[in-house]
Amino acid sequence: MKNIDSYTHLRGESLFVDDIITRKDTLYGLVFDSPKAHGKIISVNYSKAEAVEGVIKIFNYKDIKGQNQIGGIIPDEPLWAEHEVHFQGMPIAFIVAESEAIAKQARALIEIDIKELPVITTAKEAKEKGSFINEPRSFSLGNTDNAFEDCKYIFSGNSFSNGQEHLYLETQGAYAIPMENGNIKVTSSTQGPTSVQKMVAQVLGVAMHKIEVDVIRLGGGFGGKEDQATPWAVMAAVAVQHLKKPVKFILNRHDDLRMTGKRHPYDSTFKIGLDEDLNILAYDVEFLQNSGAAADLSPAIAERTLFHATNSYYIPNVSSIVHSCKTNLPPNTAFRGFGGPQGMFVIESAIAEAANNLGIDKRIIQERNLISENDEFPYGQIATKVEMENTWNTAIEKFDLEKTEEEIEQFNKDNKRFKKGVSLMPITFGISFTNTPMNHARALIHIYQDGSVGVSTGAVEMGQSVNTKMLQVAHQTLGISPDKVKLETTNTTRVANTSPTAASATADLNGKAVQKACKSLRKRLLGVASNILMINADDLKFANDCIYQKGKKTDLTWEKVIQKAMLNRVALTENAHYATPEIHFDKTKEKGHPFAYHVYGTAITQVTVDCMRGTYEIDSVKIVHDFGKSMNLGIDIGQVEGALAQGIGWMTMEEIAYDKNGRLLSNTLSSYKVPDVFSAAKKVEVIPLETKGNKMAIKKSKAVGEPPLMYGIGAYFAIQQAVKAFNPKHKIKFHSPFTPEKVLMSLYEE
Ligand code: MTE
Ligand code: MOS
Repeated sequence: MKNIDSYTHLRGESLFVDDIITRKDTLYGLVFDSPKAHGKIISVNYSKAEAVEGVIKIFNYKDIKGQNQIGGIIPDEPLWAEHEVHFQGMPIAFIVAESEAIAKQARALIEIDIKELPVITTAKEAKEKGSFINEPRSFSLGNTDNAFEDCKYIFSGNSFSNGQEHLYLETQGAYAIPMENGNIKVTSSTQGPTSVQKMVAQVLGVAMHKIEVDVIRLGGGFGGKEDQATPWAVMAAVAVQHLKKPVKFILNRHDDLRMTGKRHPYDSTFKIGLDEDLNILAYDVEFLQNSGAAADLSPAIAERTLFHATNSYYIPNVSSIVHSCKTNLPPNTAFRGFGGPQGMFVIESAIAEAANNLGIDKRIIQERNLISENDEFPYGQIATKVEMENTWNTAIEKFDLEKTEEEIEQFNKDNKRFKKGVSLMPITFGISFTNTPMNHARALIHIYQDGSVGVSTGAVEMGQSVNTKMLQVAHQTLGISPDKVKLETTNTTRVANTSPTAASATADLNGKAVQKACKSLRKRLLGVASNILMINADDLKFANDCIYQKGKKTDLTWEKVIQKAMLNRVALTENAHYATPEIHFDKTKEKGHPFAYHVYGTAITQVTVDCMRGTYEIDSVKIVHDFGKSMNLGIDIGQVEGALAQGIGWMTMEEIAYDKNGRLLSNTLSSYKVPDVFSAAKKVEVIPLETKGNKMAIKKSKAVGEPPLMYGIGAYFAIQQAVKAFNPKHKIKFHSPFTPEKVLMSLYEE
C-alpha cells in the first residue's frame, strides 16, 4: 500500500500550518532574539519599533500571566529572556503586527544594550569550567579496572562528532485562534501536541482543557519538533490571550536556523582493551555532550548515548559516563537516533584505532565481538531473539564481500589518483522510550452509520507514513477495504496525554492501541451479525467488507451490520489504551529491561576517494536490515534510504560551525551542505532479513524510523580506509564530518 498522502503531496494539496486558511483579522508574529551569546540585559528600547504603523504590540516576559518557563525535563528555559541572555538567537520579545513585513521592519528598530559575559561554545571548555546541565550519568558492567589488567592490547583516543541541522522542509510554526471563554485552539507543527498544550497552559496560567492543539501533519520533524516546536506555539498563544485575535507565526528559514538547537556535538575519550584473540574485554568511555544553553531533551539524549555505547558488541566490562555540558549555543535537541549515533561512532572509532594499531582490518575485531543470544547489555537487559550475526553474515554472503575486497585491492594497485575503501557497519538499536512511563498510547475509533471509519491516535504524521500504517492496522483488523478508513488529525481533544511522536516507537504504540480498539469493535459487531444470521459468532468473520461463515461469504455486508447496530443502539465508537508490557528500568541502579526489542542490521559501504582533490563518492551501500515481518516494505525501505542519507550527511558533509562568539556561521544552505540525490550514495540496496518478527512490534513489523541512520557511520570508516590506501603514514583521526577538506589534509599529511 502506498503512503496515503502521496496523491495530495504530489499535487501540492497536502495541508501544513502555513496552508490553513487564515481568519480575516489574523495578526502575524516575529521573534526579536538576542544578538549576543551571553550577557546581562542592561536595557531594551522598543519605542521606535512600537511606533511603526501596523505594529499591534510587542510582548516580553512581563506580559506572561502564568510562568515564564518552557523547560520540559528541567525547568531551566524561559520563554523570553528576562535579565540575561544565554545564546545568540534566544528569544527576548515577540512582535505582533498586521503583517510579517511590518513586524520585520519593527524588529530592526529595537535597540538593546547587553553587558557581555564570557562565552562557552565547546563541551570541553564547559567541562573545564564546571558548566553542566545536571549531574553526570554512568552505566557499568563487570569491572573495567581488573579487566584492563588482563588485556594484551590497550588503546585509547578521542572521538568527536559534530552537530547536525534538521532541515525539515517545513520550518517551525503555529497558528493560534481565540475560541469562546478564553479558550484557544493552536494548530502547530509539532511532534508533541501534548507538550505544546501543557506548556501553553503553563505559560498562560490556564487549565490544560482550555487549550486545544491540532496537528495536521509535519513537513518533516526528525526530532527537531519534539521539544522545539513548543516556544513558537506558546508565543502565538500568549498574544491571542492578550489580543483576542488570531496570531500566526511561521519562522523563516534564517530565523529557524539561528534560533533552534541541533543534534548534539559530542567530544569523547575512549580506552579499549582486547585479549590476544581480539575479544574486547574492557571499554571505558567518557562522553561530553554539548547541550547548549538549556536542558531541553539533553538528559534523555545523554541516557540513550549510554544505552548504545557498545553498539552491536558484547563487551563484558564496560564503564561509561556522560556529562551534559552547558554552553552558550541554542539548546541542542532530539535528532533521529537521539544520542545513539553519537555513542556508536565512538565505539566504532575505538575499534578502528585498535585495528589500525594492530595492522588488521577493523572488520576482524567487529566480527569477533558481535552480540549474540543471552549476552548482557551494560544496562542489564539480556539480549534475546538476536539477529546481529544473522544480518552480518547475510550481508557478507549476499553481497559477496570477498569479491568486493579483491576488486578493491586490485583497483587500489592499479590506480594512483583514485582509491577505494570499504567498511562494515553493524547496528543494534533498542525500541521503546528509554523513560519507561512514556511508553503508552491511545486510539479513538468512530464507525459512522454509513460504515465509514474515522481513526484518531496520538501519532503525528511527519513523512514517516505512520498514518498509512495506522490505516492498515484498522482496515485489516476490521476486515474492511482501506478506502473506508480515514485518519484524522492529531488532536489533544480527541486523544489526550500523549507521548511525542518519537523514539521510532509511534507505530508500535499507537498501532497496538488501534488494533485493540478495532478488535473490541469487531467483537461487538460480530455479535450483531450473529443475531441477524442466527449463526454462532465464533463461526463468523469480517473480510472484504462482508461477513464470512467458516470461510464462505454470506449475503450480509459490513454496511448492513452497521445499520443494524445503529437500530439496536450498539456503540460504534471505541477508545483503547496500550502500554508496552514487560519493560522496566531502575535509574538508581541503572539496570533493567528498558527496550521492548532491538532492531539489527549491517551495512557494507564502498567509497572512492579522488586523492588529488580530496573529494569522494559513496559508490554503494548494501544493507541487510531486520524489519521483522514488514507490514509495508515500500514505506520501510523508504525509511532506511532516507535515514541512511541523513546519516551519511552527518558523517561526511554537514558541517555546523559557530564562531567563538557563539554566532552560527553555517546559517544558509550555501554554507551548510546536505546530501542531495547525487551525493548521498550512487547505489543503495536493501535486503530484508528473513525472520519470524517480534510480537512486541505492531503486526510483528519492527520499528524502522531511526536505526538505519547509523548505517551512515560506515561511510566515515570507508573513506578512512581509502585515505589510508593512498597515504599509509597518515594518522587516523575520528573527527566527523569527514569533509573533503579534512580528507585532503589527511591524504597529504606526513
Ligand atoms: N521520516 C520522515 N520522512 N520525516 C521525519 O521527520 N522522523 C524520524 C523518523 N523518520 C522522520 C522520519 C524520527 S526522528 C523518528 S523518531 C521517527 O521517524 C518517528 O516516527 P515513528 O515512531 O513512527 O517511526
Ligand atoms: Mo526522533 S529523534 O525520536 O524524534
